Parts: sequence; C-alpha cells; structure tokens
Amino acid sequence: MKKILAVFVYCLLSTAYCRADEGMWIPTLLKSLNESDMQKLGCKLTAEQIYSVNKSSLKDAVVNFGGCTGEMISDQGLLITNHHCGYGQIQSHSTIEHDYLTNGFWANEKKEELTCPGLTVSFVIRIVDVTSKVLEGVEADLSEIKRDSVVKDRMKNIEKDSVAGTHFKAMVRQFYSGNEFYLFVLEIFTDVRMVGAPPESIGNFGGDTDNWMWPRHTGDFSLFRIYSDKDNKPADYSPDNVPFKPRHFLPVSLKGVSENDFAMIFGFPGRTQEYLPSSAVEMIQKVSNPIKIKAREKRLSIWREDMNKSTEVRIQYSSKHAGVANAYKKWTGEVAGLERINGIGMKQAQEKTFLERIAKNPEWNKKYGSLLSDFSIAYIQIAPYQKATDYFSETVAAVEIIRYANGYLQLLNAKPEDLAKKLETFKTAAKSFFKDYNTLTDRKLFAAMLKMYYEEVDKVMHPEVFETIQSKHKGNFEKYADEIYERSMFASEVKVIEFLNGYTAERTKDIEKDPAYILARNVFGFYETQIKPQYTLLTDGLNKLNREYMAAQREVMTEKKYYPDANSTMRVAFGKINGYDGKDGVRFTFSTTLDGIMEKEDSTDSEFVVPKKLKELYLKKDYGQYAGKDGKVCVAFTTNSHTTGGNSGSPLIDAEGNLIGVNFDRNWEGTANDIKYNSERGRNIVLDIRYALFVIDKFAGATNLIKEMKIIQ
Ligand code: ARG
Ligand code: ASP
Repeated sequence: MKKILAVFVYCLLSTAYCRADEGMWIPTLLKSLNESDMQKLGCKLTAEQIYSVNKSSLKDAVVNFGGCTGEMISDQGLLITNHHCGYGQIQSHSTIEHDYLTNGFWANEKKEELTCPGLTVSFVIRIVDVTSKVLEGVEADLSEIKRDSVVKDRMKNIEKDSVAGTHFKAMVRQFYSGNEFYLFVLEIFTDVRMVGAPPESIGNFGGDTDNWMWPRHTGDFSLFRIYSDKDNKPADYSPDNVPFKPRHFLPVSLKGVSENDFAMIFGFPGRTQEYLPSSAVEMIQKVSNPIKIKAREKRLSIWREDMNKSTEVRIQYSSKHAGVANAYKKWTGEVAGLERINGIGMKQAQEKTFLERIAKNPEWNKKYGSLLSDFSIAYIQIAPYQKATDYFSETVAAVEIIRYANGYLQLLNAKPEDLAKKLETFKTAAKSFFKDYNTLTDRKLFAAMLKMYYEEVDKVMHPEVFETIQSKHKGNFEKYADEIYERSMFASEVKVIEFLNGYTAERTKDIEKDPAYILARNVFGFYETQIKPQYTLLTDGLNKLNREYMAAQREVMTEKKYYPDANSTMRVAFGKINGYDGKDGVRFTFSTTLDGIMEKEDSTDSEFVVPKKLKELYLKKDYGQYAGKDGKVCVAFTTNSHTTGGNSGSPLIDAEGNLIGVNFDRNWEGTANDIKYNSERGRNIVLDIRYALFVIDKFAGATNLIKEMKIIQ
C-alpha cells in the first residue's frame, strides 16, 4: 500500500515521468527536456552521445530513406531498413527471370549490388532553432497572407545562407503549428545500391491479414549500401565510387530483449495531430475517416474480386491493393481506437479545464477566450467542403482512367520547345501505367465510384457530368461506363501508344474530344474551381487557429511537457519493451518467435507460405548464435515508444546504444496514437535484429554481410 501511495505521489509531482513514453522529441532538446527521464527508464547514454554536432553521435547512423528511416550497420556504408520501404526498389529490379520479390536477392560481393537510380538517402548534419530569425518583427496582428509570405521568404533565405559554398542541403520546417522553426542541414547521397532482401514470404509474411496487427511474424527488412566519391562525399553513381564511411554506425547486439528493458527509437515520423480540439477529432472520427473507409472498402472489394479470379489482375493490382489497404486498415483502427478511449470526451475534458483556467486570468481570456468557439464555427463551415473533398479524392479521383486522362492536360499545355521531352515522359509513363492496369476491373470501379459520389455528396457539389448521366443514360452508371470505356483511347494501351508515337500539334483535338478526357476535366475542373478554393481558404483559417491554440495550450496547460507534432523531421522517442492488455481477459506478451511462423504456416494462402529452407532450419533447430536463452528465435517484439508512419525502418536502440531491432509497424490499437496517444494499449512493432541476422546468415548464407557488422555478443 505504501509503495502504491509513493508511486502515486511521485506521479502527481512529476506527471512527465509517469508518461515518459509519450512524445517524439527534437534531438537537440534531449538534454534539457528528456535526459533525466531517459536515464530513469534505464538509458545509460547521455544526450550528447545521442545527438552532437561536434562529435560523432547516434544521430550520424540514422538516415531518411525515401520517407522511411534506415540506419548504418557497418563502416562500409551498409544500411538496414524495412522490406516494405525497399519494396519499390526490389520490385523495379524484379523480372520474370530474376524475381527478387518472390525469391529474394543477395549480393555475394559488392560488384553484384544493384544500382537504384532515383533513390536518395539523407543524413542530418545539424539542427538549429531559427525561430527568432523567422519571426523577428512579425506582429500578431499581421494578416495571414502577409505573415505567410514574410515567413516563407525568411525560411528560404535562411536555407540559402546556411549552406552557401558547401555541398550540404538545407531545409527550414515549422514546428508547434508554426510557433517555432528549425533549420536542418542535410547531406544527401545519390549512389545507393541494393544489397539484400529476403523473399516476400519472409519480408511480407502475413501480408495484409497481419498488417497493423500483433502478434506479428514478418521479417520486414532489406539491405542497401551508400557509395561516395573518394573523399567520402556524395556523388552520383560511378563505378569509381567507394563505400561510404559513416561518422557512426550501430553495433548490433545479440544479447536479446527482456520485458521492461529501455528502448529508444530514432527516425523520421511523418505526421501526427496530437493537439487538435475536440471539434476536429469529431470531424476526423465521424466524417472524414468513415468516408474514406467506406469508399476504400468498395474499391478494395472490386479489386479483390478480380484479383481472386485472375493471376494477371492479382499481379497488376497487388502493390496498389497493399497501399490502399494499408491506409484503409489504419483509419479503421484509428476510429475504433478513438471510440474506445473516448478521444472526443478526453479532449472535451481538457477543454473544460482550459476554459476554467483562462476565465480566471483576464489576459488569457482576452487572447484565447474565443478560440474554442471559433474552432467550432470553422468546423461547421468546412464540413461540407471536407466531405466533398474526401469523397472526390476517394471515389471519382480514385478511378484510374479518370486520373490518367486528366494527366494529358499537361501534354496539351506543353510549350512547343518542351514537347519532344514531354512526349518521351508520356510514353514511358504509358508503359508503366498499362503494365499494371486492367480495363475491365477499372470499368467496374468507375461505375461504382461515380455512383457513390452521386448518392453521397450534396447536389450543389456535383459536376455537370452527373446531369448528363441522368438525362442521357437515365442515371444508369453502367451504361455510362460502357460508353466511356468503349470510346476512349485511354482505355487501350495500343491506342495510347499509337497516339503518342504519331503525335503532332494537330492531334491535340484527339485528346480534347476524348470522352474520358472530357469527363476528367469536368470533374477535376469542378473540384479545382468550385470546392478547392473555399476548402483552402477555410483550412488557412484553421491553421491560424491551430497555431494560436498550440501557443495557448503551452501557456495555460503547463502540467504537460510538449513535443511538436511529427513533420517528417528527425525525432527521438523512447519507452520500454512491454506487452499489453488487449480485450477483456486477453494479455498480449511482448515477443513472438519462429515457432509462431510455423503455427501460422498455410501453403494454400500466399500470405502464409513458409519457404522450404526456413522450415528446414526450424526443424533442425539450426539457429547458430541467433537463438535466445530459451532456445528460440525471437522474430518481433513490442514497445510503448511513440511512433507513426515514417518510423518504418527506424532503429530500436538499447540502453547502451546498440541496435536491437528495426521498427516496422504498430498494433491495431496503436493507430489512434496519431491523434491521441494512449500508452495503455498502443504499441509499436519491431523486428528483432537477431531474426534479421539469422535470415541473412543461416537462410541466405550471406555471411559476407555479417562479417562487416560489429556484433555484440
Ligand atoms: N502498416 C505498415 C505501415 O504503415 C506497412 C506494412 C506494409 N505491409 C503491408 N502488408 N501492406 O506502413
Ligand atoms: N508502417 C509504418 C511506416 O511505414 C509505421 C507506422 O505507421 O507505425 O512508417
């Protein structure tokens, strides 16, 4: 009892400690904000060892890998990230003869590594708070348009000045909804080569069924290598380039994980919205997400029906399906999570306290008194535009032929001197579009999506074409679809290629009178002129309110430690390795093993096929140095660190600064964390590094790669 009381009192005195797991922190502020919390949780590192400008530190091992995160694991530029982050590269190198998606890929020597044109990887050299420079003399009563242009100009100038005369790149980003600004100086590498990837049956084991779920058994990793010129500087691909020597790389620990161990995660989280008012959460939970969910459910079911019937369609649509399903499943989890924790109610309770406090302080009352009611009005005003925007982008604009045909506006608008180059781009784009396009499938989607927009969106937000469908086709969307797909050239690869090959300025007419193009311009034109301007205007107003409300919360609700919402910049999150209570009566443990892969094995379901070699290793218990004390190979584990999309590929670092895992997902309950963090049930899911090493070494025999790493026994 005494102990419980002591903990309770301690929590009262220091809420920050008891909620130390919430937050994605700016690395430069760890010293002042987090160092002691981290050490209390077991971290043995100092803030300086994690982020330093003058000495090499952990941050020098972490990279932005095309929107995901990756980390250096050798002194020869070797990098590990997720399979789903390297997916595009693995797919683009795959052909029928070399099907790396299905069979995996391993370079036995550096000269076998595959170049990845277009792939860049960036390091953060330093982070500087430039708020005062950006906001100097910007008065609160400046109009939004003026403020915006002053702020943007200053951001640009700072970016230019900060890297003048160097090979670095710079970006300034806004934090805390525009109350603060930070400069990021980056070093960007453009020669990045593919080194290794397991087969999909390991790298995406469990597929969409297991996605966003725990327990998880996905070997979600792939390996790349950064090359530099002889001076260790970024250079475009050249056979003379050499492996890059990073300022720091992470030693890989085989020690294994235990419940309550400290865990730190470094990476580039994309977007969170933790400080919204209840009116905003209500719109997301009750309007926006349900629309997107409903439209995607329909789209996915149409695709799936055809994918199940035809192998060709399955291959064409598998990647698109995975992408659309990923966000669909996330939004569903987010709504369920917000409902369960009563996110709106929690926000309303906070708002009540906020209003009570400002009522007692005339200065606050003057500054912030109308904020929450202004929000409510703004959300009432924006609601119809939000609804139309969500429906437009998830139905009409989701139909491939409409989006594709709309792109030809660019060809029509091309300046004569650019035309030849544009044509080439269009030819390449046409090939890749039609490679993964099925006319019959898209035609079904077309009828269903147009019908949904027609039925769900208010008449005043209908483009003219809906009237034509009523008058000319008696409201029969199928008939209308027939007409479009029979008469438009955009439904046929042969016709489009023929058209592009014989293109001359006179043939613009063929585009202009194409029925799919006419339809596309009608619906996109309507959206761009009748919905978007008003929507943008109202969103700008909301941005201003968000900025003020953010400042107000920091000033009035001082019991909380504030971290800025994710904005794709480098952050550190930390917490503990732990399981969670699921449903009533269900406790989820914190880790899974290879045994669970065998339990899930189903050779009749492509998502749950286990490769023969992996099964053999399992049957022989041939685990090398990669099994834990219990003799099992740990595959994945969970922690309560605060992560979001973009944290995929992020290193999970132990108390000593060693790599113990690679982040790749969250559990279903954790998806609501983007709007209201909840450490009770939200977990991030991490690939155990020992499973990755086991696959590299025992499964693939790529011992050359293991030798490069610094292994901690
Ligand atoms: N849920 C993971 C994250 O949002 C992506 C996992 C990719 N795998 C898949 N089966 N779609 O990005
Ligand atoms: N899977 C996500 C990613 O790709 C991570 C997450 O949303 O938790 O970044």
